[in-house]
Amino acid sequence: MSWAKHKAIETNLVLLAVLTLLTVSIGGLVQIVPLFLVETTIERVEGIRPYTPLELVGRDIYVREGCYTCHSQQIRPFRDELERYGHYSLAAESMYDHPFQWGSKRTGPDLARVGGRYSDDWHAAHLRDPRALVPESVMPPYAFLDRRIDADSIAARMRTLRAVGVPYTDAMIANARADLAAQADPAADASEFSGRYARARQGNFDGDPQTLTEMDALVAYLQMLGTLVRFTDVTPDQLRQP
Ligand code: HEC
Repeated sequence: MSWAKHKAIETNLVLLAVLTLLTVSIGGLVQIVPLFLVETTIERVEGIRPYTPLELVGRDIYVREGCYTCHSQQIRPFRDELERYGHYSLAAESMYDHPFQWGSKRTGPDLARVGGRYSDDWHAAHLRDPRALVPESVMPPYAFLDRRIDADSIAARMRTLRAVGVPYTDAMIANARADLAAQADPAADASEFSGRYARARQGNFDGDPQTLTEMDALVAYLQMLGTLVRFTDVTPDQLRQP
């Protein structure tokens, strides 16, 4: 552009503002519009399913108790994190989380792959009194979670999640109460339940087979974290040496 034209723009505040706005808008559109045109920005990954009713209640307790104020659920692709926690987190692994629990505060360890790392008994005992197992722990005790679950709203919670895109089917919602009970009772027939929720584990999560408690739900949730995707052919080792 010639010097004269440049001067015209730079000495006219309104013209400069309009042209600046135009330039920034084009830049913005180029970045933002494609995101609306692709069907999804999250790559689909085999194994990801919505939470079972029991896990969902557990997740709600996790959020209610503010566990996220000390625990993140996002393993970053750095060597120290891979060695400590396992495969880095995939976007798909939290695609049904509303709200997501990534977090950045790590007073305690990341929990994105804590599922299956300890026994159910360990989790229940640790939640009741963390210092009984880890003497130097600053985690508060949650023994009060040994109280009966309030599951009256479970179907409504699932319908709400469906409204924001979680693919709960009519059958899942209709059987929410039954599935909730079936998962916490290892003796219950689980053929229907397992058909609806792949790789969901039945268990007597809190050690007390009689009562369905909040502890059952929270432990069921912790035990499935990070276990849905099987990283059989990708190990942290391979990730470091592509
Ligand atoms: C004040 C911070 C704090 C809060 C709140 C907190 N934790 Fe922790 N958590 C810790 C610390 C510190 C550790 C590591 C020491 C230990 O194992 O107790 C830990 C450890 C854990 C572990 C073991 C992780 C591992 O890989 O060894 C689990 C599981 C856990 N917390 C779950 C929870 C849940 C569920 C809640 C909410 C009900 C919660 N925490 C609330 C601080 C916290």
